[in-house]
Amino acid sequence: MQIITFMNCQKMILVTGACGQIGTELVKALRDKHGNQNVIATDIRDVTDTSDGPYFRLDVLDRGELQKLVSELNITHIYHLAAVLSANGEKNPIGAWDLNMQSLLNVLEVARIENLQQVFWPSSIAVFGPESPKELCGQYALTEPTTVYGISKAAGEHWCRYYHQQYGLDVRSLRYPGLISHSAQAGGGTTDYAVDIFHQAVNKGSYACYLKDDTRLPMLYMPDAVRATLELMDAPAEQLTIRSSYNLAGISFTPEQLAIGINAHLPDFTISYQPDKRQAIADSWPASIDDKQAAKDWGWAPAYDLQDMIADMLLHLDTHAHENFA
Ligand code: SER
Repeated sequence: MQIITFMNCQKMILVTGACGQIGTELVKALRDKHGNQNVIATDIRDVTDTSDGPYFRLDVLDRGELQKLVSELNITHIYHLAAVLSANGEKNPIGAWDLNMQSLLNVLEVARIENLQQVFWPSSIAVFGPESPKELCGQYALTEPTTVYGISKAAGEHWCRYYHQQYGLDVRSLRYPGLISHSAQAGGGTTDYAVDIFHQAVNKGSYACYLKDDTRLPMLYMPDAVRATLELMDAPAEQLTIRSSYNLAGISFTPEQLAIGINAHLPDFTISYQPDKRQAIADSWPASIDDKQAAKDWGWAPAYDLQDMIADMLLHLDTHAHENFA
């Protein structure tokens, strides 16, 4: 009897997009917390090294395949991270819409049918547009996105709230700012420069930035982003007042400020500016975010400021370089 009770309480977590920038870190954190065998990593890629825990190749657009995995593995929670980001989305708008929307609908439907306990889905600052306030953009500010990525995130937020209201599904979401991490590269976003710059600074000593020097954007260091995700998912349901997606803030800075911060560690590092199409996307987003609802509802507070983040990034990239060299 005791064993049955234990099994019923056991969380079985499935993560889509597990090989991506967030997935790489979140899967590690979830495995540390819930045990390696209880966190199933999935992605569209073939992965051969599964020594850290179970991995399945999954195209999340295949709802039948998703439902089969969820049912056979007794999944209780899904973290649905697979998505096309802002810059890549503009290269193939309909493809990005199809992937971002249909995959979310598949996850929500499977979660409803299979009675899952919780779903996490990331939204983004990209839901905001040129009409939204530039500074301290609020939770309920106008969302008129200009990118297909932002449109898909804004629509996705409505779907999350709909599934919560209509079916009682416990789906939770964060509007991530640009995420900065050392383990995995960002891919196809507008904020990727803030990751690329570190790799180029360490490997080449210079960086050609595709945004103008004074383009201030909201960013968040990955350890904070992972902690925010785990804290939101652990928060008592009755404390949550937002069922679309929570504003989340960390650090706002410009490429020039980031370069100056890197220069303090690497005095020979140089940056140049060659704005491309991503500049228009960046210009359409707020420069800073007001996340006081997240602070109020579930106690959110970021830990890393700009200097801490830079120091930690360089420390880890230096360690990786030595590991690769050894
Ligand atoms: N980092 C994302 C992008 O640049 C924004 O959420 O597309």
